[in-house]
Amino acid sequence: MNNSDSDSPVVALVPAAGRGVRLGENMPKAFVAVGGTPMVRLAVDGLLASGAVDRIIVMVPVELVESAVALLPPSDAVRVVVGGAERTDSVRAGIAAAPDAGYYLVHDAARALTPPALIARVAAELRAGRRAVVPALPVVDTVKTVDQDGVVTGTPNRAALRAIQTPQGFAADLLRAAYETNVLATDDAGLVERLGAEVHTIPGDPMAFKITTPLDLMLAETVCNAARSV
Ligand code: CTP
Ligand code: MG
Repeated sequence: MNNSDSDSPVVALVPAAGRGVRLGENMPKAFVAVGGTPMVRLAVDGLLASGAVDRIIVMVPVELVESAVALLPPSDAVRVVVGGAERTDSVRAGIAAAPDAGYYLVHDAARALTPPALIARVAAELRAGRRAVVPALPVVDTVKTVDQDGVVTGTPNRAALRAIQTPQGFAADLLRAAYETNVLATDDAGLVERLGAEVHTIPGDPMAFKITTPLDLMLAETVCNAARSV
């Protein structure tokens, strides 16, 4: 069913159920603090501050549901559910928790410093009729493909490459259809592309970077401290 019209609800789905293996802290990444505040709280605060989101579903590890409820803003608009083993499982759990959405914004807790204005721009594109919208930035490194032995097999034209961020926005029926296919993907738009749907890019924002490694966490801390001292 296509229930996306310009006043149907925008529901943000926040995957926060990952283990944070690459970050290597002693707790799941979304619960690690940046500038004193857990990433998942920063991400939810950013979504609320955008003014573009009606409800938020946060997917967390099963043992951290109560902690998440305690650290998130006490609001009827924010709900915590149990995520899954893979990111796609977590997003699927979020979709199931908000079956009445007209639009979904899927937004990683790990992109904790995403500017609210970027979130609002993605939502505005959806309300204007786009069915799949992702923030994108030009790629600064040259990217190569390699085979199993690490031998270079190709160098895609960098001008045609983009690094994709979140929030990724979708008409709800399109994302639901994409998740009915049972494939794994590193982003939600990847599943939508496989349905043959057109995915539009809008300019991303460097501050929407994903906190993945200890170096990323240092960068995020530095940015928070700098923002505090102005
Ligand atoms: N995520 C999730 N459920 C999973 C795996 C990931 O909700 N089973 C979420 C993470 O919490 C994060 C986002 O998806 O907010 C992006 O994933 P990633 O950066 O890979 O985070 P982690 O999986 O936690 O990190 P790592 O891969 O290093 O373990
Ligand atoms: Mg991961």
